[in-house]
Amino acid sequence: MILLKSPEEIDRMRRANAIVAEILAELRTRVRPGVTTGELDVLAEELTRKKGARPAFKGYAVAGRVYPASVCISINDEVVHGIPSPRRVLRDGDIVGLDFGVCHDGYFGDAAVTVPVGRVTPEAERLMRVTEAALAAGIEAIRAGAHVGDISGAIQDTVEAAGFSTVREFVGHGIGRSLHEDPQVPNYRTGARGVRLSDGLVLAIEPMVNAGGPEVFLKEDGWTAATRDGRLSAHFEHSVAVTGNGPYILSLP
Ligand code: MF3
Ligand code: CO
Repeated sequence: MILLKSPEEIDRMRRANAIVAEILAELRTRVRPGVTTGELDVLAEELTRKKGARPAFKGYAVAGRVYPASVCISINDEVVHGIPSPRRVLRDGDIVGLDFGVCHDGYFGDAAVTVPVGRVTPEAERLMRVTEAALAAGIEAIRAGAHVGDISGAIQDTVEAAGFSTVREFVGHGIGRSLHEDPQVPNYRTGARGVRLSDGLVLAIEPMVNAGGPEVFLKEDGWTAATRDGRLSAHFEHSVAVTGNGPYILSLP
């Protein structure tokens, strides 16, 4: 079931997403060698509560497994859903995905970035740039008469033109009064055109891009997805409303 949002609801979602964007911006200023992912998580939760919001991911349950933290922090070959820990230390040359969501005033916001720690390899730089460009291409595919499949195709083409691969196991999603709503937003062509992009549809678009092959596996902790070939992965996400004037990116500071 697809829930279209009124302009007033989109305004409320804009406020939830602005909190997400501001906190992500603060987190990225703290990213440096020696910092632990646990520290970043504690800070994110504190800032969230100060804004009168609650972390969207903490306590989120999938098939009986409960996600224990406020931010998903995924390093290097980790694709998504990494669990922060006071024992996990950021090192020079790492790339670190910060995926963060809140619930505020009954509505969810969700966004992600991948950032370098100190100096990273040219390949890591290019992977991050291409993943961000794939997100931008997906957002630009939002126009009158387009369908979800056009977003998926634009993302896949951007990724594959760069010689990288797009993860199949995780997808973008509708967002609103729930973190995950219909429709799914795959980062590759499924063969179906998908639903039409109507005014009031709000989507979390989130390409996950691997430097090597697309295959991923789940680590022992039951959450962290990582690349099977051990090569790098990057992730960027925005929550975006479809409007009569085209895409409206909600998760900007
Ligand atoms: N941005 C991710 C998503 O939308 C984060 C979910 S983590 C979870 O699916 F813990 F909440 F599952
Ligand atoms: Co999401």
